[in-house]
Amino acid sequence: MNAPDSPDPIRLDADSSTFDLPSMSDDDSVYQAQFVAWFRAVAPYIHAFKRRTFVVAFGGEAVQEGRLARICEDLALLRALGIRVVVVHGSRPQIEEQLRLRQIDSVFHNAMRVTDIAALECAKEANGEIRLDIEAAFSQGLANTPMANADIKVMSGNFITARPVGVVEGIDFQHTGVVRKVSAEVIELALNARAVVLISPLGFSPTGEAFNLDMEDVASSVAAALHAEKLIFLIETPGILDEHHELIREMSSPSASAHLESGKLSADTAGYLKHALRAIAAGVPRAHLVPFAIDGGALLEVFTHDGVGTMIAADELEEMREATIDDVGGILKLIEPLELDGTLVKRGRGRIEREIEYFSVIEHDGRLFGCAALYAFPIERVGELACLTVSPDAQGMGDGEKLMKRIEQRARAMGLEQLFVLTTRTAHWFLKRGFIPATVDQLPKDRQRMYNWSRKSQVLLKRL
Ligand SMILES: CC(C)(COP(=O)(O)OP(=O)(O)OC[C@H]1O[C@@H](n2cnc3c(N)ncnc32)[C@H](O)[C@@H]1OP(=O)(O)O)[C@@H](O)C(=O)NCCC(=O)NCCS
Repeated sequence: MNAPDSPDPIRLDADSSTFDLPSMSDDDSVYQAQFVAWFRAVAPYIHAFKRRTFVVAFGGEAVQEGRLARICEDLALLRALGIRVVVVHGSRPQIEEQLRLRQIDSVFHNAMRVTDIAALECAKEANGEIRLDIEAAFSQGLANTPMANADIKVMSGNFITARPVGVVEGIDFQHTGVVRKVSAEVIELALNARAVVLISPLGFSPTGEAFNLDMEDVASSVAAALHAEKLIFLIETPGILDEHHELIREMSSPSASAHLESGKLSADTAGYLKHALRAIAAGVPRAHLVPFAIDGGALLEVFTHDGVGTMIAADELEEMREATIDDVGGILKLIEPLELDGTLVKRGRGRIEREIEYFSVIEHDGRLFGCAALYAFPIERVGELACLTVSPDAQGMGDGEKLMKRIEQRARAMGLEQLFVLTTRTAHWFLKRGFIPATVDQLPKDRQRMYNWSRKSQVLLKRL
């Protein structure tokens, strides 16, 4: 920004009525262009999430690993953008530490802590300390930090009514509890007052007893009770990985449930996923598992197209599937009008029949209303996304994007590292979804030979 007394670098040329822009280095203009492009790309998310409620939950591990200040800065930014933020924290390692200091043994049964009076005292101490640390982190306001002018007020209280787990398999869990009720109306009042609501994993029974709760139970119960837009777990693992150890960025709740039941997840990740699914079953549209090890992970997950963790979506993605030979007619019906007007290259029935296994389709009520194909170039580890089409009566509802993601998933599963697309009319759609302009000589050699120079298609590339 210009200092008030500096000369105005933009002046109106009296003769031509145009502006002379100040000269600037290439670095400056690249930086400006990137900044503006980035800010504009974030704008739709800002509009979409304004006044929505996000429940963000993290375990005591995030605190132990020194992530608290950065997490709170990111959450303060969410709140500044008009998102209603509820923070739920855990305290497992801190309770362990308290028990260790008092030389008390931890007792677990079926991976659940048995909280006797001494362990309850440790839980109160550990939670009190973390709560104060979080309040302190939200109170920062030093100039030249992301918290400058944030002026955040944190509200916490006895929002959770708990009941005892009781006696299970002959073991009395004593002061270990489960959530019975969330005081959603009071939390809403605090959120309406623009406070960040902070909830510890402790609950109270009508008899005035305190109970040690599972952070994940509290977070999913709160998200459900508030009809939150998102439940975000900031976790110590990378998210959910596929059999090639690649991050699964998006899952439907049925496929996430199948993953959970496969028993292949680590106990920690499975615990988070179980509660993410529980929140989704209770009506929360999206749950996210985001590694807290990534600086700014919550921001990247919320404001970038692909995110950095695993998103579990309530929506049924089940109607999407790989094509079979029976789909050839439906695919032809979809793409023929676009072949005729020149949007797509003409393929013809014979070619589609031969290449049917390259296609993914979206079907609803027995009718195909979207398709896309993946042509793999395994030596170069590159794939081509081709023939992406959504029926005109179903456009604008996100199916094009779902098909693109499906092709991305298939490409990743094949070990491909990049995806390209050739397009004459849809470049902006792809640019908005993470593709960047590229040149013909960046295509695999075989594909370069087949490039139709008279079509002048734009080449766009996306790193997977
Ligand atoms: C491109 C296409 C697949 C998108 O499918 P879709 O289901 O409508 O896509 P989504 O719902 O995920 O996205 C819709 C958004 O894309 C925008 N969009 C649609 N066509 C676009 C284009 N040609 N260029 C830029 N944006 C476009 C819509 O305006 C809408 O934007 P909004 O959400 O800001 O309102 C579909 O428009 C289509 O079949 N087009 C004709 C075939 C084609 O061009 N395929 C690409 C061949 S390479």
